[in-house]
Amino acid sequence: MLLSAAMSADGYLDDASRRGRALSDAADWDRVDELRAASDAILVGARTVRADNPRLLVKSAARRDRRVAAGLPGSPQKVTMTGTGELDPRSLFFTDASVPPLVYVPAMTAADAGRRLAGVAVVVAAPAVAGDGRLDVAWLLTDLAARGVDRLMVEGGGTVLAQFLLAGLADELQLAVAPVFIADPRAPRLLEGARPGTVAPPMRLAAVGQAGGTAVLRYLAGRPFGDAGGGPAA
Ligand SMILES: NC(=O)c1ccc[n+]([C@@H]2O[C@H](COP(=O)([O-])OP(=O)(O)OC[C@H]3O[C@@H](n4cnc5c(N)ncnc54)[C@H](OP(=O)(O)O)[C@@H]3O)[C@@H](O)[C@H]2O)c1
Repeated sequence: MLLSAAMSADGYLDDASRRGRALSDAADWDRVDELRAASDAILVGARTVRADNPRLLVKSAARRDRRVAAGLPGSPQKVTMTGTGELDPRSLFFTDASVPPLVYVPAMTAADAGRRLAGVAVVVAAPAVAGDGRLDVAWLLTDLAARGVDRLMVEGGGTVLAQFLLAGLADELQLAVAPVFIADPRAPRLLEGARPGTVAPPMRLAAVGQAGGTAVLRYLAGRPFGDAGGGPAA
């Protein structure tokens, strides 16, 4: 499972307006488009659906054609998760989709969400983590796999990225670092909502690249930083 995000050089996913500030240029969007085209499904959190109203489609006609020639929908299946079920069926997430998006909700919200999103989405009742109102993201991955989703791309926001990354479920993180500084503590960070004392599982730096004006860092699940055995001689 791939996590993908663009952040400012000081670690923010957006500015404090939370309306989806652009942190990618055309070259970086093209890189993201390639990742989307190689995915079976794209997941974002419900707040991103509400705030950014994203389409989450493969933009390049050539990439869409390649997918269709391979028997796939032009763009990957869209997926979101929500505790409240408060999603607008008129948002682009639903109206501009190759196949009906999947919406994961807790069982107690499923009937309401099913009514609200009737005809535009498939609503899936999911179990919550014990002692926590939030859905179990590991269960969600298993359910997606059972639906034929092998390659899931998670595009944010920070609340969703944190859950997959901190649970050690990510195989890879592609992080675009824009030459932009937000410097506003009200703005969302790359990882949001973690409890104090949380320890993130290790990842290792696999590649450093550039797309237009952004640095692109590729991390893979791996051994703890500093365990390479090649430290300075005492
Ligand atoms: N730069 C980037 O690459 C990038 C990408 C995406 C988004 N963003 C930015 O990130 C910000 C949004 O991030 P965010 O952290 O506020 O929100 P988010 O991660 O997009 O969505 C959080 C929401 O998703 C639902 N959710 C998350 N985990 C859940 C779980 N385990 N069980 C049930 N529901 C769950 C909840 O929805 P309900 O509230 O409906 O219960 C929660 O409020 C926006 O400013 C957006 O522009 C940036």
